[in-house]
Amino acid sequence: MGQLKSETLSNHQQLEKNLIVKLKGMQSPEDYISILQNFYAYFGGLENQINHFIGADELSDYAERRKTQSIKDDILALEGVVPEKAAADDLPEIGNLLQAFGALYVIEGSTLGGQVISKMISKQLSMDGVEAVSFFKSYGEDTMTMWKKFKTVLEHHAATQQDADVITGAANETFAKFRLWMERN
Ligand code: HEM
Repeated sequence: MGQLKSETLSNHQQLEKNLIVKLKGMQSPEDYISILQNFYAYFGGLENQINHFIGADELSDYAERRKTQSIKDDILALEGVVPEKAAADDLPEIGNLLQAFGALYVIEGSTLGGQVISKMISKQLSMDGVEAVSFFKSYGEDTMTMWKKFKTVLEHHAATQQDADVITGAANETFAKFRLWMERN
């Protein structure tokens, strides 16, 4: 699945760059809450769409994978407001299993960056002892194992070049629309 990584690299880099600016600019828990709200609304909307196509039959450990609920927990731990989820217009098209896997690739991949991000947050903000990085810490020490398992299932679904292209297209749209969402919210 080198294609998926290489063909989404540019979108990943742009999103990463924008997010790092936001993270470095954080001066208070409120700024962090606002980042969490961005993730909650977008990933929450995505998750609802993905759930139409992916469950335990398609990905046996789907129920154990990090869910939007963990972002909600972090927002509430900081006494922030849980926003509405993003609506279809702001989300990529998720109309079949392959597109759902493309979007889930972006969500699951963010656990890799999450390892760096959670450290940046803990270092930069004093949150009066409140532990509110469960979302970004995600699977912690198991992150790489979870990622490899996910990739194996994903590769199984990308059986033909045509299927792989649909997954890549959905992943790129998921990245691009997230960047737009972050710029506007
Ligand atoms: C500060 C922000 C971020 C940093 C520093 C970061 C960093 C990383 C790192 C270090 C990897 C592993 C690269 C490798 O081992 O080959 C990675 C992979 C990935 N990240 Fe990020 N990331 C960030 C934000 C995000 C966000 C917000 C998303 C999704 C919304 C995301 C999606 C992905 C995906 C899908 C991969 C997997 C690429 C692949 O191997 O196929 N990242 N990121």
